[in-house]
Amino acid sequence: MQQMPSIPPDALEVHRERVAGSWNILDGGVLVAAGLPVPIAGTDGCHDFHVHGDHFYLTGMNVPGQVLAFDPDDGFTFFARMSASDDRVWEGSPPSLDTVRGWTGLERVFPREALFAWIEARRQNPIAVLGNRDILTSPAGYEVPELDELWLTEDTGRTARLAHHIAAARRVKDPAELKVMRDSAAACRAGHLRAMRMATQGMTERELAVEIEAEFRRRGARRPAYHTIVAAGRNGAVLHCTPTDKPFRNGELVTVDAGAEVDGYMSDVTRSFPVSGVFTPEQRDIYSLLLAVQEAAVNTVRPGVEFRELHLMVCVELARGLVDLGILTGAPESLVERDAHALFFPHGLGHMIGIATHDVGGYLADRQPSDRFGLKWLRMDQPLKPGHVVTIEPGLYFIEALLTDSKRREEFADAVNFDAAERLLDFGGIRIEDDVICTEDEPEVLTAGIPKTIDDLEAACR
Ligand code: GLY
Ligand code: MN
Ligand code: MN
Repeated sequence: MQQMPSIPPDALEVHRERVAGSWNILDGGVLVAAGLPVPIAGTDGCHDFHVHGDHFYLTGMNVPGQVLAFDPDDGFTFFARMSASDDRVWEGSPPSLDTVRGWTGLERVFPREALFAWIEARRQNPIAVLGNRDILTSPAGYEVPELDELWLTEDTGRTARLAHHIAAARRVKDPAELKVMRDSAAACRAGHLRAMRMATQGMTERELAVEIEAEFRRRGARRPAYHTIVAAGRNGAVLHCTPTDKPFRNGELVTVDAGAEVDGYMSDVTRSFPVSGVFTPEQRDIYSLLLAVQEAAVNTVRPGVEFRELHLMVCVELARGLVDLGILTGAPESLVERDAHALFFPHGLGHMIGIATHDVGGYLADRQPSDRFGLKWLRMDQPLKPGHVVTIEPGLYFIEALLTDSKRREEFADAVNFDAAERLLDFGGIRIEDDVICTEDEPEVLTAGIPKTIDDLEAACR
C-alpha cells in the first residue's frame, strides 16, 4: 500500500514546475500514467509492481493505475484510484483525496473515474502520452473505456519531445532526492558489509544473496534495486551472473553487485573480495590495478568532464596495467583505439542512477551509442554537471566467450597474450562500483563507507 512519499510536497512541486516549464505547451495536454501490474503468464498473480519513473518523479506516488495529467489552462490534475469495497478487503483502503493532496502538494486531485471526461474534453487536441504507455493498450485498467478512436489525438512527436525534457529534468538530483539516495546507500552498505562478513567456503552464491537482501530490507529497503549478482570464481566473468548453488571455495574471489531500493531511489555497488578473507599475490596485483584506476576515475568526476572521455581514460589506464601484467602488448592508447582492452573490460564505465538503476537521460538527445566493441555498452555520453549522480564501475574479466572466440583471437593475435589470459579464467572477474555525486567541487561518494582497499576488505571479511 502507498505510504507517505519520502520526497516532500514542496520538492515534488519543484519537479513539476521544472518539467512543465521545459515542456512549454500551449494547447492539448499530457498524460503521465503510473502503469499497471504485469500479470505472470498462466497464473492469477502479478510481478512485483514497478511504478513508471516519470510518474513517480512528479507525484511521489507508486500506486498502479493512477494518472497525472497536465494541460496549460488547469496545470496538473491527479486521478487517484478509489478502490471498490471488495478491493479494500484484499488490499486495504487507499489514502483519501485530501491525504493525496497533502502528500503530493497537488491541489487538483480527483477520483480516477473523472479521467475519461478529462480525455474526452481534449479529444481534438494534441496529447502526449508519457509514463507507462500501457494506458494506450489497457485503458480499462485506468477506468477508461476501450474506444478505438480514443487515442487518435496522440501527438507522437510531442510525446518524444516532452519525454526528452522530463529525462533532462531527472538528471539533476535535488537535495530532497539526494537525502533519500544517502539512505539507499546506507542500506546498500549494510548489505555489502554483511556479505563480506558472512562469505565463507562452502556457502553458496544464492545463500549469500539471501543474506544481502535480508540486510537491505532490515535497513529500510523495499526490495533490491535490481537482480542481486553474487558470482564466485569463474562466474565472476559473467557480467550479470544470477546467483547459483555453486559453493564458494577458498582461493576464489566473490563479486557482489547489489543495490537497494529505498523510498523509490536506487543504489548500485559492486565489491570483489576473497572467500578466504586474504587475497593471493596474483589477485592482489590485478585488484590493485583496478582499484587505482577506479579511484582515479571517481576523483575525476567534476562539472564539465565528458563521461565518454572519462570512460576512454579508464580504458587506457586498464590497458597500461594489462601491459604491465604481460596480458596485452603495445602502446595503451593504440590498444584502446582498436578495442583490445574491451576483451577484458567490455562494459561501460557507468551510468546515471536515481529513480532507476540505469537512470534516464544517459545520452544527450543529439548523441547516440557507438557500435564500436569498446563503446557499445557505454550507457552515458554527456558532460557531467553538479547534481548528477553516476556510477563509476570499471571491471577486469577473463571471459571464456571472448578469449576463445576464433575471430577475436585472430584479430588481436599481436596484441593479446592469449595463453596468459586463459590461465586467468579461474580468476573470473572483478568489478569495483561506487555511486558518486558530481558537485561544484570534490565529488561526493555516496557509497564511500563500503570497504574497497585490500586492507579494508580483508578486515571486513574477518
Ligand atoms: N548492477 C547493474 C549495473 O551495475 O549496472
Ligand atoms: Mn551499475
Ligand atoms: Mn552494479
